[in-house]
Amino acid sequence: MMGLLRTMMPHKVQLLAVLAFGLALLFMENQIQRIEESREVLERTMARHEGAESEPRKGGAGGQVTPSLSEADDVVVIYNRVPKTGSTSFTNIAYDLCGRNGFHVLHINTSKNNPVLSLQDQVRFVHNVTSWSEMKPAFYHGHVVYLDFSKYGAEGKPTYVNVVRDPVERLVSYYYFLRFGDDYRPGLRRRKQGDKKTFDECVASGGPDCAAEKLWLQIPFFCGHHSECWTVGSRWALETAKANLVRQYLLVGLTEELEDFVMILEAVLPRFFRGATQLYRTGKKSHLRKTSEKKPLAPETLSRLRQSEVWKMENEFYLFAQDHFHFVRDHAVREKDGVVSVLPQSFFYEKIYPKVS
Ligand SMILES: *[C@@H]1O[C@H](CO)[C@@H](O)[C@H](O)[C@H]1NC(C)=O
Ligand SMILES: *[C@@H]1O[C@H](CO)[C@@H](O)[C@H](O)[C@H]1NC(C)=O
Repeated sequence: MMGLLRTMMPHKVQLLAVLAFGLALLFMENQIQRIEESREVLERTMARHEGAESEPRKGGAGGQVTPSLSEADDVVVIYNRVPKTGSTSFTNIAYDLCGRNGFHVLHINTSKNNPVLSLQDQVRFVHNVTSWSEMKPAFYHGHVVYLDFSKYGAEGKPTYVNVVRDPVERLVSYYYFLRFGDDYRPGLRRRKQGDKKTFDECVASGGPDCAAEKLWLQIPFFCGHHSECWTVGSRWALETAKANLVRQYLLVGLTEELEDFVMILEAVLPRFFRGATQLYRTGKKSHLRKTSEKKPLAPETLSRLRQSEVWKMENEFYLFAQDHFHFVRDHAVREKDGVVSVLPQSFFYEKIYPKVS
């Protein structure tokens, strides 16, 4: 062809033709490369989509809380603590460990300590918690009642944990807390400061701060953001609270047995709680927050409270939580020579086919 061009065209035109031909070649090569690149992008995207069906996606970019706890880097744990359940000692462990174990701890401060969020705040909270990837993994704690994340179109759910306490003990503790504060923030002036009336005297005189209705708190905290949850004495609220406790909570411990709770939590969520048991055992005193001036109850006070329907229901809920926690604990730990330890993995796989040659 070049020979033909040489014989047919003048020298300059020949040169131009060769140049044009070269340019055309370059252009075509460039186009082919771009098509090639697009194809690779498409293939990668398709592979990602196929993969997403069988394994959880990583990273918070998609606004997803990974359901798998072993992929703990974007796990969100919510501890919606009930007031006066001895929960501060547990929260302090999270604060002590967050630097070392590499996660964030955030306190949910609601205005006026209102544990019920407005509908718009519920939507904001769910969106914020699921999409705030800079904070993941995260441990949120605060006096907020249970919130069902799946209701708000969010992908994935946070991991809920909590602690419950004997309902009368909790109320008595709250009663004195309002009057005398605690040694955690001793200087802080409390709402009922100066009122010297004991809990027994309050019950005997039928005061409002120790009325049986005031026991209605752990049930609504586990029941959630529904009107019926706050209807004192509602059987539906009790059943909903029970159902949430077993279905929506990873683990619910007891104030009275906090060490076992911490130990099991460390075994279940090591990404967060590695080292928690040791910290709890060695720092027991420093982690304990005692309400000042707490007095033992008179038997008449107890029998009077126990006659109420509200006590019966709150106590039923507490015993339900206790049974469940003991069941979990008995399957999770063993005691040998007075030393309690978590059981190692006790399942394995066999008969795996087809055989790898
Ligand atoms: C919550 O926020 C309010 C207002 O900013 C503040 O006065 C209060 O101390 C906070 N509560 C806690 C427990 O830090
Ligand atoms: C979540 O809320 C905090 C505080 O309001 C804000 O700084 C942060 O940007 C929010 N994150 C997302 C992902 O919305």
